[in-house]
Amino acid sequence: MKLLVTAGPTREHLDPVRFLSNRSTGKMGFAVARAAAVRGHQVTLVAGPVSLPTPAGVRRIDIVSACDLLTAVKRRLRFADALVMTAAVADWRPASVSPVKLKKRGMSRVLALEPNPDVLQTIRPCKGTRLFVGFAAETGDPVREAERKLRTKGLDLIVANDVSRPDSGFAVDTNKVTFLSLANDSLERLDLPLLTKDEVAERLVEWLEQKQCEEV
Ligand code: CTP
Repeated sequence: MKLLVTAGPTREHLDPVRFLSNRSTGKMGFAVARAAAVRGHQVTLVAGPVSLPTPAGVRRIDIVSACDLLTAVKRRLRFADALVMTAAVADWRPASVSPVKLKKRGMSRVLALEPNPDVLQTIRPCKGTRLFVGFAAETGDPVREAERKLRTKGLDLIVANDVSRPDSGFAVDTNKVTFLSLANDSLERLDLPLLTKDEVAERLVEWLEQKQCEEV
């Protein structure tokens, strides 16, 4: 299979030294890329700013912002059988970006923002027979929110990720996740135990392999 995986945060710059971002470290997405490559798949990894080594055998494209991520995904999607969006895409960006460092004297207390494109929604018309997987990092009710995103983003699978636990989510090596998919519009739910991100990645790649076999 040819996999396109996105990972890490995006950074939305305000000036050359300041940005809006989030706590994603890219561990989950890099684990997916590594697991898929180990199982013999061809992997392209679109990575936000993270400090992780590129997994062996993976082609890596580095990006900074949500708009960069969208451009990279649009460019590579045609070569992919499956897209796995683990990237924590910033939903907002500063309305204007200064090419030079802003001075506090001249700065307003209010930061004007504009919405970033939703990558999955934007590329949805090009999905075709490709498998699309999303991740939902949640603090409230992970499964309810993830189900909403599974349906509204037209995904084949969403991984609901409870980031309120200290052993799950950002910057740790383990994750507590639930796989949610739809079969004839009814929800299929697989609650996984606490696993390492490498184990979650393997389960995810196995799910994709299984799904692709069913569709042939
Ligand atoms: N995503 C995306 N483009 C965005 C934001 C998110 O493609 N601008 C993708 C993420 O990569 C993830 C999925 O959508 O696979 C869910 O992301 P999440 O941040 O949980 O959801 P949002 O759509 O941002 O919704 P909300 O802010 O309401 O939680």
